[in-house]
Amino acid sequence: MQTDLRGRDLIGDLDFSKEEVQTVLEVAYDLKRKRALGEPHPYLRDKTLAMLFFFSSTRTRGSFESGMAQLGGHAAFIESKTTQIAHGDTEREIGDIFGRYFDGIAIRHVDWGVGNQYLNLVAEAARVPVLNMQCEIYHPFQILADLMTIQEKVGPNLRGVKMVVSWAYAASYLKPVSVPQSLILQLPRFGLDLTLAHPPEFKLRPDVMEQAQAEAKKYGTKFEVVDDMEAGFEGADVVYAKSWGPLLTTQDPDEGKKFQDQYKSWITDEAKMAVAGKDAIYMHPLPADRNVEVTDAVIDGPQSVVFDEAENRLHVQKAVMALTMK
Ligand code: CP
Repeated sequence: MQTDLRGRDLIGDLDFSKEEVQTVLEVAYDLKRKRALGEPHPYLRDKTLAMLFFFSSTRTRGSFESGMAQLGGHAAFIESKTTQIAHGDTEREIGDIFGRYFDGIAIRHVDWGVGNQYLNLVAEAARVPVLNMQCEIYHPFQILADLMTIQEKVGPNLRGVKMVVSWAYAASYLKPVSVPQSLILQLPRFGLDLTLAHPPEFKLRPDVMEQAQAEAKKYGTKFEVVDDMEAGFEGADVVYAKSWGPLLTTQDPDEGKKFQDQYKSWITDEAKMAVAGKDAIYMHPLPADRNVEVTDAVIDGPQSVVFDEAENRLHVQKAVMALTMK
């Protein structure tokens, strides 16, 4: 167990070592148990977290805000449009000034080519931890919750467990690539064999792919890429199928939609789930485009773990806040 995470940022998935992630999970399980038993756990009494949002959220906002209250502190919801950022507040000013008011700064900024740099510039200027509530490259807290959920559902030893991370069709908007990228970065360390399935226009960042392949090699796990959803589902123990935009191909929403609309058959339905292992679990970070990305029968069916997955956001985030903001 790694006991000194105080003051640390969590921006990219590999910012914490495997042992440090294991520590986060141990603390998360303890906090989950304490909440279930109604045991108070005010590890962050009188501490405050700034939650700066440049993009909408349901789960991330709710779980960070509630989590801070459960730890005895307070989270301030700050919508960027309500600040003076558009009138000139720089990243350095936000980092330095909020670092004097708050004990942690959490940021969601998913704008292409902007968000991750914004978080890093704030972190350089801040005297307190900066936590990534999702940028255009990474969504580390989602993947910590996913890992906790897979351990709970499949078992603590994940070596040899087959997981498919698949693209799925969506009509709503070009969703960020941060979830699939964070999945392929974090999960090889924990022994999962990964298959990444996507149509040719929906590639992930080359640097992230290289890092993921290096992680898989380091930990002796399999990592393959296919361009067929059903082939990816074949024999999978964990099915994680969600949409992302063809953002490495184009950032133009109209052009991107034309690429997306070629692949309407990439929906998770009961027929595709039947190709996966018979005890396979279905995961999705939400929000999902129902009956476009995934059928109601699957997302509301017995193999779906999406609500437990969403709940675990609360527990892993409380663990990271308690360990870093103490
Ligand atoms: N999964 C997730 O991050 O949900 P929100 O976008 O609602 O925060």
